[in-house]
Amino acid sequence: MSTLQAVRGTRDLLPPETELWNRIETTVRRIFERYSFGEIRTPIFEDTQLFARGVGEDTDIVSKEMYTFTPVADPPRQGRSQPETAQSLTLRPENTAGVVRAYIEHKLGETGQLQKLYYIGPQFRRERPQKGRYRQFFQIGAEVIGPPSAGSESPLRDAEVLEMLATLLGELGISSWKLLLNSVGSATDRPRYVQTLRAALEPVAASMCADCQRRAVTNPLRVLDCKHPQDQPIIATLPRIWDSLDEGSKEHFAAVCTALDACGVPYEHDHRLVRGLDYYTRTTFEFVQVGAGEGGLGSQNALLGGGRYDGLSEAIGGPRAPGIGFAMGEDRLVLALEAQAGQTPLLAAAYIAPLGERINAAALVLARELRGAGLRIELGDGSFRLKKSFEAANKLARAIVILGEDEVASGILTVKHFASGEQTKVPRGQLGAFLASPPTSTSN
Ligand code: HAM
Repeated sequence: MSTLQAVRGTRDLLPPETELWNRIETTVRRIFERYSFGEIRTPIFEDTQLFARGVGEDTDIVSKEMYTFTPVADPPRQGRSQPETAQSLTLRPENTAGVVRAYIEHKLGETGQLQKLYYIGPQFRRERPQKGRYRQFFQIGAEVIGPPSAGSESPLRDAEVLEMLATLLGELGISSWKLLLNSVGSATDRPRYVQTLRAALEPVAASMCADCQRRAVTNPLRVLDCKHPQDQPIIATLPRIWDSLDEGSKEHFAAVCTALDACGVPYEHDHRLVRGLDYYTRTTFEFVQVGAGEGGLGSQNALLGGGRYDGLSEAIGGPRAPGIGFAMGEDRLVLALEAQAGQTPLLAAAYIAPLGERINAAALVLARELRGAGLRIELGDGSFRLKKSFEAANKLARAIVILGEDEVASGILTVKHFASGEQTKVPRGQLGAFLASPPTSTSN
């Protein structure tokens, strides 16, 4: 019988890599707290209509990348006049639409306050798998949404989110990024631009790649994402969305830039950044990885993307609730951090090596004591010879604690610290403190 494997485009995350995932999540939760964001958890599957109406029928995500299914309807139940009808469901390809649905469903707008919500969780898109692109991937995202009276339309909200992201990447230890910023204008600017673009593409589309020929008809904005080298000279001559923007959108963009300049967050105005989701209005942005070379993310270099969506709530049947948010690809953050030098695996503070199986129970007691003091401890086994214990300890921990009958009786333990090579006798009562601050090469 053949062995079953994880489905193409999905993968298992195993230790020690999961240490890095947890470290990232701990760091981002700390930052979100500092900026007064609270966590939201929405269901992993939603009504398919949510994405069709929210993200847009014509987008790549909705038209070809969603995992959609219709479960068999429940049989009619006693006491219910209507049997439940079969409903088309979709594994969420992104989380913004779900957050806005929850905002509407729980009437969060009625508080009159801005809602600042963050999420961490899996998303699903049927894309062609490659490095940094998976069919189940993880996003860390946040949304700021509320009634206009709470200031949800203010450009300061955009700048605050972007400043938070610069801080967040810094705290994660990702320093080589570039912030690309653009405006896609108001709900009326965009259709005007699409019309202009469609007209400009008509005479040139035939000499472009097959994808662009199709997009020129179905979704002209997507032509701007094309990476084919031979299409670039044509794309450079296409009209820019900036020239279709109304004064309000231009002023909004300028105010975002002024606030970013004031707090020293660098950015680049990228006229081609129109993003692949239909809900965007005004500000759009991406943080891309730069200068990572071989170990970098390659073509999937967008660490995160986001923007403003002032009409999304109304598009899915809610009240007016402008918002702005982002989502980072957690898989890509992990790849970026792994590629950076100096990522050493997390080692235990100590490996306890019992000398003989009779010492096993005493070793477990010692491990319990030290773990109780907050230390990360590996526990060996008394059936191991000392050489084997040393080999295992060297891979897993910063130090080895040898526990024989004499040590148990005297309460004085022998600790060998691997980096310095020092061997020290430590009273049991001081062992926790000793292991928590390993000796430097000058100590004895
Ligand atoms: P998005 O640009 O589609 O935006 O995705 C955001 C980020 O998720 C990307 O920059 C990338 O890092 C990661 N990502 C996307 N697809 C994959 C994949 N197949 N494999 C690995 N990582 C991936 C959104 O999802 C919007 N909801 C962001 C947003 C929030 N806009 C406003 N609020």
